[in-house]
Amino acid sequence: MTRSKLISHVVKPLLFAVCLIPLLLLGIIDLGANPIETLTHHTGDWALRFLLITLAVTPLQKLTGIGEIVRVRRMLGLYAFFYAVLHAGIYFVLDQGLDFRAVVADVIERPYITIGFAVFLSLIPLAATSTNAMMRRLGGRRWKRLHRIVYLSALGAVVHFLWLVKADLREPLIYLAILLLLLAFRTAPLLTRFRSAVFSPDH
Ligand code: HEM
Repeated sequence: MTRSKLISHVVKPLLFAVCLIPLLLLGIIDLGANPIETLTHHTGDWALRFLLITLAVTPLQKLTGIGEIVRVRRMLGLYAFFYAVLHAGIYFVLDQGLDFRAVVADVIERPYITIGFAVFLSLIPLAATSTNAMMRRLGGRRWKRLHRIVYLSALGAVVHFLWLVKADLREPLIYLAILLLLLAFRTAPLLTRFRSAVFSPDH
């Protein structure tokens, strides 16, 4: 089997099923005394984790030299969006009881909700332009430029988390460290190019 077929026929379907595990876990885990809180935390965690996993695809592709890896990126990104929709949906429907005014007040008054909401909005154009047709319509360059927003979305999601925790900052700080590492990986070649452009003997 060629590597391309292996990705399409084995890796992708398998990964699709694996990515559903966090959702299935919701039916098994003990939701505790405050089920809405548990559901909110679980889905928020997985939305952020999938964002970071999606951002790790290109570095992984560069490190391994396996170009085909990139073909699972869209699915992972859409899973990030899927868990973000569940997370925001649980907040909107179960926590706020579809009270639109209460949601607007919350978005205005609580900074971590404002950021979460902004992150959620930022993911919509990314998900909406993830199809091949949209990629073609936008053109590679514009599509890439638009999709760089995802770094801001991930940063916003980490800030959302940092802002809402009261005492133990360890978990969001671990996510921040991972994000900074991924960012460093993406910006390092740019910096090298910039440095050689500025300091090359021809200048
Ligand atoms: C409409 C948008 C959003 C709203 C209203 C919202 C609201 C919330 C709420 C109420 C909590 C729990 C706070 C607490 O228990 O004190 C939370 C936690 C969290 N949210 Fe969001 N959120 C939004 C979007 C997002 C997005 C887009 C992401 C990630 C991509 C995200 C990631 C998280 C994380 C990681 C947590 C912490 C979970 C934990 O404590 O383990 N949120 N969010």
